[in-house]
Amino acid sequence: MMKTLTVDLADRSYPIFIGESLISNSDLYSPYIKGKQVMIVTNTTVAPLYLEQVKSALSDYDVDEVILPDGEQYKNLDTLNLIFDALLEKRHNRTTTLIALGGGVVGDMTGFAASCYQRGVDFIQVPTTLLSQVDSSVGGKTAVNHPMGKNMIGAFYQPKCVIADISVLATLPQRELSAGIAEVVKYGLICNNEFYLWLDENVEALASYDTVALSRAVELSCLDKAAVVAQDEKEGGIRAILNLGHTFGHAIETNQGYGVWLHGEAVAAGMVMAADLSWRLGNISQQDVQRLQGMLKRAQLPCVPPKEMSNQDFIDLMQVDKKVLDGKLRLVLLTAIGEAVVTSDFSADTLHQTLDAGEQLGCSSQ
Ligand code: NAD
Ligand code: GLY
Repeated sequence: MMKTLTVDLADRSYPIFIGESLISNSDLYSPYIKGKQVMIVTNTTVAPLYLEQVKSALSDYDVDEVILPDGEQYKNLDTLNLIFDALLEKRHNRTTTLIALGGGVVGDMTGFAASCYQRGVDFIQVPTTLLSQVDSSVGGKTAVNHPMGKNMIGAFYQPKCVIADISVLATLPQRELSAGIAEVVKYGLICNNEFYLWLDENVEALASYDTVALSRAVELSCLDKAAVVAQDEKEGGIRAILNLGHTFGHAIETNQGYGVWLHGEAVAAGMVMAADLSWRLGNISQQDVQRLQGMLKRAQLPCVPPKEMSNQDFIDLMQVDKKVLDGKLRLVLLTAIGEAVVTSDFSADTLHQTLDAGEQLGCSSQ
């Protein structure tokens, strides 16, 4: 059975379709394609698995494809240019529709390309990782990385629809599935205590590819994300809570080299650091931090930062975070399980205690 949710953004509202065997269903695409031309953007891993199925659904259109190299290390302006090259070589005009078929890397780059090709063309998200189904395909953040910082060049640009097909998760490597679970746990922590309790019971089912559990997790995550995005599309305020653990996590990803730690893995370790700081500020209990560590461990995720990262490495990299305001670091911290705030109300000493904690925090290390 297919579920349909809505991201409510007035004239830019769009549906999220969640269910099994959706990517070859032409009825899901056609209402959102206004011209004859379509460019499918995918990568060398996803193309052999799913490109033909998507093309079969688009047989009424003039379909071209561009197959990008796979990996976070290719999420940059050079790779973005390959999309523009393909669009121009195939003479795509302003009525073209881009289709992002892949994980968050393909989705973020395709969305950004759509936002600037001929000053903006339509695009559809067909997310194929758990992480992209629960997070990156929804909400319109698009970007590429810069060597000095993650996702530093980008735009807010909403898709016309999101097609989240649970069946395609069957081919995801275990490590990628686990990385997606980190972002799912995030929603429980920041805004949905009931979901968090459900996750505590069901995290093993998710990590073992149980489609019923995965469908529910995608649906509840998208509901939470859509509600936050509808309140604050361009992150003037509340939307920043979706970045729990990300300031620490982005520092880990940048320090280690893009692609070495998966985004979700870095977010998992970062969420434990944010929870640790929240505990030191008296907002949650030490048992809450331990419960989070246990859940992440059962999802086969790391929850300590890389041993070789010094406090200064973190401080330097966290200073380029997009939440820094007037030179002051702001972090998403928990005020309770299921409640988060964006705040600069913590002392440098307390932050250092969390950074020092490293090993003591620990479950498994990378
Ligand atoms: P990814 O796109 O690199 O995909 C992970 C790996 O899985 C890749 O090797 C990919 O080719 C492969 N893959 C994808 N679908 C598959 C399938 N069905 N079967 C087998 N292999 C498959 O990584 P990701 O975790 O999906 O996304 C991470 C990216 O998303 C990061 O760049 C991060 O910054 C970004 N992100 C963006 C937002 C946002 O709001 N825009 C939110 C969270 C993360
Ligand atoms: N992933 C964070 C956001 O979409 O705002």
